[in-house]
Amino acid sequence: MKIIRTPEEMHSFSKSEREAGKRISLVPTMGALHEGHLSLVDKAKSLSDVCVVSIFVNPTQFGPNEDYASYPRTFDDDVKKCEERGVDAIFAPSPESIYLPDASTKIVESSISSNLCGKSRPKHFAGVTTIVGILFNIVRPHLAVFGEKDAQQAAIIKRMVRDLFFDVEIETGEIVREPSGLALSSRNKYMDKLEREGAARIHSALLAGKRLAEEENCDNVDRIKTRVINEVSNAKTRVIYVEVVDSETSLPVQRLERGKARISIAVWYGNTRLIDNIRI
Ligand code: PAJ
Repeated sequence: MKIIRTPEEMHSFSKSEREAGKRISLVPTMGALHEGHLSLVDKAKSLSDVCVVSIFVNPTQFGPNEDYASYPRTFDDDVKKCEERGVDAIFAPSPESIYLPDASTKIVESSISSNLCGKSRPKHFAGVTTIVGILFNIVRPHLAVFGEKDAQQAAIIKRMVRDLFFDVEIETGEIVREPSGLALSSRNKYMDKLEREGAARIHSALLAGKRLAEEENCDNVDRIKTRVINEVSNAKTRVIYVEVVDSETSLPVQRLERGKARISIAVWYGNTRLIDNIRI
């Protein structure tokens, strides 16, 4: 497995793989890799000849009071996991090699990004689309795989690729969970064991909303949202949003269409910001 540190080296790696007729996949990550990330690697490998994982804690997608400085960085462990999983190359650039000091260009998606997480993290998705666009241009993958854990992010990337004619196929992978139901996340490292057990109520609340929609045939979005909020609320949780959205675009819907919807949630659980979603 190659560890590539500069855009120039990454470019020439991809160029030679492309010239050899190889299909390249990219799994963009911020590291602190867990089974959720690795399941995307498995999918990427099954769809390509050469699998690249990028590991880059992207400063521009964190707000001024967010956790950029404390975000978990476990590079040596990530390298081991990628090696075990059969990754061909890790692209782990420095911020300085990605962002020139006078860089003045951004990619901004302005419809899907203004909902859900975009409301409480105003510049977050512009940071995401810009870095993903940069990574696509440096790695030049034929396809890239994103997790449904961040369904809104995946929808925004698909929109960006469509609108700007990026020549990259976008695939998504299912949410991987702990046995308790808690969705795996690098930020789970901020919680102790007891908190992680407690945070499993986020998934239980989504399941309660799903049951109301599917078993009790409720198509009233407000009732579903209220059910989820009631189930998730306790002394440790502060709900940021609960929304019923279109499963493809992540845009809020007024009336539920089964098979086409998703309940999305963001909460503060203690001092940890967690998101999750479930398909209906
Ligand atoms: P990160 O949070 O590291 O996530 C990288 C990818 O892993 C994303 O596509 C995310 O949806 C997926 N993922 C995370 N937890 C998952 C889980 N439990 N099951 C399945 N997939 C999961 O998302 C980012 O990084 C960044 O915003 C990035 C796209 C890399 C741009 O900086």
